[in-house]
Amino acid sequence: MATEGWTPRVNTCDETMQPIAYVNGVFCGMEEAKVSIEDRGFQFADGVYEVIAARGRQPFRLQQHLERLQRSADAIGLAVDLDSLTLPKVIDEGIARCGYEDVMVYVQLTRGVAPRKLECFAATRPTVVATFRALPVFSHELRQRGVALRSVRDTRWAYCSVKSVSLLANVLLKRKTQQDGFFDALIIGPDDLVREATSANVFAVVNGILRTPPLSEHILHGVTRDYVLECAKDVGIESREEEMLLRDVIAAEEVFLCSTTKDIVPVSSIDGQTIASGLPGPVTRELLQLFPSSRGR
Ligand code: PDD
Repeated sequence: MATEGWTPRVNTCDETMQPIAYVNGVFCGMEEAKVSIEDRGFQFADGVYEVIAARGRQPFRLQQHLERLQRSADAIGLAVDLDSLTLPKVIDEGIARCGYEDVMVYVQLTRGVAPRKLECFAATRPTVVATFRALPVFSHELRQRGVALRSVRDTRWAYCSVKSVSLLANVLLKRKTQQDGFFDALIIGPDDLVREATSANVFAVVNGILRTPPLSEHILHGVTRDYVLECAKDVGIESREEEMLLRDVIAAEEVFLCSTTKDIVPVSSIDGQTIASGLPGPVTRELLQLFPSSRGR
């Protein structure tokens, strides 16, 4: 089923646990959290963001996420001194306040509030928003049997390495593919080269070698992607960052997606064509075991 995949965590019914927000220095309930309608994030999607998973209240790869946030801010000319925002402290406090054991942390920086016009040369105070909620649990069943993808042409903007809040193209791609009964879209360049999914990077095992598209402006430089490459090295799985044609990925021995909220999700078919046996292969399963979330799974 297209929209399956996520279930709320069982611990959400505990009264001491609730999603909370942080807006410009102040923690509050989700309902009280407000930003101006003149915020450039609201008007123009003029902002950048991060999604960080904390398991057992420990943010995973926080430094890498913050470094990417700084790169994204720099890329859109959003002058912000991340150190002055003391985000590690804010994140620790948010995790403690929401009370969940496993937390999905969302951090967004926008160019701030200004009268609505495209150009914005005057220095505005960036808006800093964060939310802290229960980390969704990815369906055990889908992880066992894999997900179906459909290939689509890339209709996004040219700087996909920037984690911009401007996600309308991703939203529409995901919406259409899910309406048609697929789990996600596999985004392809004009040259038929595979890029990524709407909110995950992609790996394939081709001729026994783990491959993933190289870093470029066509993909987000995923924190999980880096982790997978490091894990592969540690356990002696040969890997390469190189371009792959759609037809080579469809013919691969194994294909999987990876992201902060999903870890590793096996892909069972692309465009209705089954990947190998259709079940998660040995490389996918071995790498999945190396994720902190696999403890106890
Ligand atoms: N998405 N590619 C895209 C387009 C993404 O939006 C994401 C993450 C990834 C994987 O990156 P990472 O491993 O750093 O999470 C790749 C997040 C989870 C989101 O928008 O919710």
